[in-house]
Amino acid sequence: MKVLITGSNGQLGSEIKELSSQYNKLECIFKDLPELDICDAESLNSFIIGQDIDAVINCAAYTAVDKAEENFEIANRVNVTGVSNIVEVLEKINGKLIHISTDYVFDGNSSEPYKELDKVNPIGVYGETKRTGELFVIGSNIDSIVIRTSWLYSSFGNNFLKTMLGLGSEKDSLNVICDQIGSPTYAKDLAKTCLDILSRSEQLSEKGKVYHYSNEGAASWYDFAISIMEFSLINCKVNPIQTEDYPALVKRPKYSVLNKTKIKEDFKIEIPYWKDSLKKCIVKLEK
Ligand SMILES: NC(=O)c1ccc[n+]([C@@H]2O[C@H](COP(=O)([O-])OP(=O)(O)OC[C@H]3O[C@@H](n4cnc5c(N)ncnc54)[C@H](OP(=O)(O)O)[C@@H]3O)[C@@H](O)[C@H]2O)c1
Repeated sequence: MKVLITGSNGQLGSEIKELSSQYNKLECIFKDLPELDICDAESLNSFIIGQDIDAVINCAAYTAVDKAEENFEIANRVNVTGVSNIVEVLEKINGKLIHISTDYVFDGNSSEPYKELDKVNPIGVYGETKRTGELFVIGSNIDSIVIRTSWLYSSFGNNFLKTMLGLGSEKDSLNVICDQIGSPTYAKDLAKTCLDILSRSEQLSEKGKVYHYSNEGAASWYDFAISIMEFSLINCKVNPIQTEDYPALVKRPKYSVLNKTKIKEDFKIEIPYWKDSLKKCIVKLEK
């Protein structure tokens, strides 16, 4: 199976790149801006058709949650038009799609892990555009799944883990939000899940089914930061603060833990606990 990975220089795309050689049933082709822009329908069509692509893992997205508030147009172009372009060409060639979405489609008012069919109600531009993008996949006629994930980090790209490592080694103390709860997720674990699902391609025969995937367990950004300092042996005091004490352009869900029962049952996968994966990523960064 010939698989195109869009947005391949991002965190998830880079993890897929690193793991892909272990999947000999899949021939992976990695593309990102400026070479392949998912918003450019014409070049996307000619690339996918010209290269005989069978499946796409769409890792391309506008992911700057704060900046999206002031850049609706670009967030919408990438997260909505880009996704609809991918769906449209895959419909022509009967291709398969794994599309990645986010916990930020929820408003965060729940007190128990969100299930796939729970009511969505994004509270920011990023979540809103990601939700509209999902709808193109859900309503499509192709073999496809949407995987919502949360709080991604990786040894590639910029993320909360790297920010904390940087700040932790420069400062004696840091203030970190303690009243937003979610699940930190190592992009490598999600990358493996995407490749496992595609390599057993008979498993991908639903039309636009939604799944939730994050690492197991729940944490606040404060808990996450404490564990980062502990596992990397950085001596920096982390102080818990409330959301309202941290200036931000955008409201984020207070609670966005995802229920993963469906993906574990349907695809027979095991999901690592967040602290175990965090340790592995830190060890990799220290090498
Ligand atoms: N990061 C998180 O915490 C998080 C949480 C939940 C869900 N997700 C979702 O998980 C997926 C992967 O996230 P990630 O963290 O790997 O994102 P990322 O690191 O920001 O990577 C996204 C990649 O897409 C590229 N891209 C942007 N616009 C594009 C376009 N028009 N055409 C082609 N490529 C384009 C970006 O390039 P530039 O860098 O040059 O813009 C970047 O390389 C996304 O769908 C995201 O919404 C992420």
